Amino acid sequence: MSTKTIGILGAGKVGTGVARQALKAGYRVLIAASGDPKKIDLIISVMAPGATAVTAEEAMAQADLVVLSVPLHKFRTLDPAALAGKHVLDTMNFWHDTNGDMPELEDASSSSEMVLTHIPEAHMAKSLNHIGYHELELDARPAGAADRRALAVAADYDETRAMVLEFVERLGFDAVDAGLLTNGTAFEPGTPIFTGSYDTAGLESELDAHLAGRGELTAAA
Ligand SMILES: NC(=O)c1ccc[n+]([C@@H]2O[C@H](COP(=O)([O-])OP(=O)(O)OC[C@H]3O[C@@H](n4cnc5c(N)ncnc54)[C@H](OP(=O)(O)O)[C@@H]3O)[C@@H](O)[C@H]2O)c1
Repeated sequence: MSTKTIGILGAGKVGTGVARQALKAGYRVLIAASGDPKKIDLIISVMAPGATAVTAEEAMAQADLVVLSVPLHKFRTLDPAALAGKHVLDTMNFWHDTNGDMPELEDASSSSEMVLTHIPEAHMAKSLNHIGYHELELDARPAGAADRRALAVAADYDETRAMVLEFVERLGFDAVDAGLLTNGTAFEPGTPIFTGSYDTAGLESELDAHLAGRGELTAAA
């Protein structure tokens, strides 16, 4: 797998948490907020030393994998052209208190699919949305550790899925293939997977339970 550069959109709690873990895993990390990178230089040097603050355009252009960690209601500020053909990892969730009313969610079966309507040519995966930002570091373990936490990965493209499975593993978690992007409903807010913490067997069992009857555990593309 040739993933070398991670481009993170969002320099908040999740973005900087993912950046720290990705740096430990040996990735080159670019991180952007919505404005001038000079505004986040200091916070990045403190919160994710070794990451480079860049513009969103630079992050998207240079990344092998683009991580979306912006508030969900900002999804229309993402640039569809810059994300066309890119491998993209959606870590976002819907929280009414933060995001307000989002009627467009009613037309999509998952928040990732809603985001995909805005960036239709992105090759999107969903993961890391079902772990608290602080747990990215606290719960990370080396491969093979008895208490290693498992996280689910859903994606429609095999290459994207493989990249994100590897990324999650390198961050310090057992990565479990949840099949198609639409299966991400199994680990959105309100589900047992979202609220719990599982090893691989437990996570697979919860995925099966959630998706039983939908026949969507097989991969496509
Ligand atoms: N908090 C958690 O534990 C947790 C866990 C898993 C997933 N999530 C999800 O992850 C996402 C981020 O959460 P958070 O807690 O990290 O939010 P946050 O602390 O509020 O940070 C949001 C960041 O997004 C940036 N941003 C907004 N629009 C942007 C754009 N178009 N391009 C680049 N950056 C942009 C903001 O920059 P400006 O200040 O310049 O606008 C800010 O740096 C949310 O969807 C959340 O639901 C959160």
